Amino acid sequence: MGPTLGARQSVVPRGRRRRACDGRQRWLLQVAWIYTLAVTKISDLRKDYSRSELDEGRAHNDPVAQFHAWFDEALKQEIPEPSAMTVATVDERGRPSTRIVLAKDVDERGIVWYTNYLSRKGRELATNQYAALQFHWVEHERVVRIEGRVEKTSAEESDAYFKSRPLASRIGAWASDQSQPISSRAVLVARAAEFGLRFGLHPPRPPHWGGYRLVPDCWEFWQGRASRLHDRLVYRLQSNGTWTRQRLAP
Ligand SMILES: Cc1cc2nc3c(=O)[nH]c(=O)nc-3n(C[C@H](O)[C@H](O)[C@H](O)COP(=O)(O)O)c2cc1C
Repeated sequence: MGPTLGARQSVVPRGRRRRACDGRQRWLLQVAWIYTLAVTKISDLRKDYSRSELDEGRAHNDPVAQFHAWFDEALKQEIPEPSAMTVATVDERGRPSTRIVLAKDVDERGIVWYTNYLSRKGRELATNQYAALQFHWVEHERVVRIEGRVEKTSAEESDAYFKSRPLASRIGAWASDQSQPISSRAVLVARAAEFGLRFGLHPPRPPHWGGYRLVPDCWEFWQGRASRLHDRLVYRLQSNGTWTRQRLAP
């Protein structure tokens, strides 16, 4: 006897039926996801903060110690790029600009990062030595803001750090005229090859590349709290070298 329609359906192997069903479910999920993306408004995005608190009783009196306490926690919890910070500079017209760099040293003398002195930030710092930094540790709902005057690190300090960088980064410091227009990526790659051939394994530090140290006169530590009632402690440097500490309204 020939197979009936019902019987024909049942001869489709079980695995294939499940795969067809999985495919349909996946398609429906994708449609739902695209729909959610399409209807989510930026203004609807919000989050309540509740991970931790910052109070005067437990905060360090010294802002550098407070920074390291938070930074160590960020390291321990393996927060991505914990040393990444925003650097804000101001040009000669008073127009601010920001970018992210990696902090390489933080101690009583200040916060150090390395870059190209002829870059946009370098040119702006040459005309206005005041800058602001900001660390944002999203997972810990924490921000550290720092303000102060910026100076170049000594040639010895810049040399020592330059030597510690991977070879490709040292060659890159020669190859990239940071912040200048460039006609194509191929030009950049060709320049890197050219400098690689010229210097081999021991490229010297380019004269236009080195460190900056922001010497802070103000630190702010921000801890997200529930209902937007955040904690903010600001430390200000006094003329006798001590720090005052004050709570700010969120
Ligand atoms: C995570 C991260 C780390 C960076 N670190 C550095 C750095 O240490 N030094 C640097 O010059 N640029 C760094 N950059 C690139 C800068 O953000 C920026 O593009 C570059 O310094 C040019 O900025 P300017 O044109 O404003 O001078 C980093 C970018 C990212 C995303």
